[in-house]
Amino acid sequence: MNKKIVTLDEFIIKSQKGHDDATGSLSRLLRDIGIASKIINREVNKAGLVNILGVEGSENSTGDMVQKLDIFANEKIIECLSMSGECAAIVSEENEDIIKLPSVNGKKAQYVLVMDPLDGSSNIDVNVSVGTIFGIYKRKSDASGEIELEDCIQTGLDLVASGYVLYGTSTILVYTTGSGVNGFTLDPSIGEFCLSHSDMKIPAAGNYYSVNQGYYLKFDLEMRRYIDHCSDLNLRLRYIGSMVSDIHRILFQGGIFLYPNTRKYPHGKLRLLYECNPMAMIVEQAGGKAITCGLERILAIPVTNIHQKATIAIGSPDMVDEMQKFVERYSAVNA
Ligand code: AHG
Repeated sequence: MNKKIVTLDEFIIKSQKGHDDATGSLSRLLRDIGIASKIINREVNKAGLVNILGVEGSENSTGDMVQKLDIFANEKIIECLSMSGECAAIVSEENEDIIKLPSVNGKKAQYVLVMDPLDGSSNIDVNVSVGTIFGIYKRKSDASGEIELEDCIQTGLDLVASGYVLYGTSTILVYTTGSGVNGFTLDPSIGEFCLSHSDMKIPAAGNYYSVNQGYYLKFDLEMRRYIDHCSDLNLRLRYIGSMVSDIHRILFQGGIFLYPNTRKYPHGKLRLLYECNPMAMIVEQAGGKAITCGLERILAIPVTNIHQKATIAIGSPDMVDEMQKFVERYSAVNA
């Protein structure tokens, strides 16, 4: 007998029924993200065929070169979220400032979306996986007034939902609303995300470590010693250069992903608000851990700037704990 297919929309509606106080607003927002990611997926898949490839020539707010598909993904998500009126503002890697969305039919939007619309975009030209990362906050200020900066710079602990979409050999959307993590694979024949991985759990430890080992000599002593330890254990090094893809592997198979500080990036390279926090929420919800290389819990770091950076060590709980021991031991040696 065939197993019944559960689509993303069905799953979202069913999950909402478990919350008596739910208004349907968050559900609609999640469905809008699902629609936007199908459109992005279509463009990512045909990127080699149309003139949408290559560096556009401008720089984004954090100094990276902007590529055309980044812009497309950014615009598509903003457009999809603008139509239903559930989202009051968006913080995007591609925009220096907060994007305030106009009210739709006088609706008082309760949510703020933070996102990296296309993470790992330097992979596009070579046909390697990229992803979308998102986090959703409930605004703190009164929904009838103007959105404020404080609504957008909440800590990761305040996230009401987060997720990512990986445009890989197949396209998968993984999200959490704080009660477990579920993954939905896009079935191109029916154009629907279908539940493929329910209640995902990260292995307590695994055989993979993921770090840009080319920067080895630029890492602090404690990080070099920990990487030596991973190598001594014959762990497998895997580094795609797209955080979504690298962490996705670790979520499924166990391991640790590291982006430590270097001389070029003294505070790390990855962005706290829309890269580290959403991925940390997912990994923690799956039973993993996420801390900075200075051993702070990622989700608890105060956010002062929408484009703030953080170092990160994320993945299987036993491996993050072990990395922590190396930092404690070798930073004491340095002191
Ligand atoms: P980009 O979107 O500019 O390609 O950056 C990707 C991010 C992240 O996804 C990845 O883990 C990291 O940058 C890779 O940085 P390095 O090239 O410095 O290793």
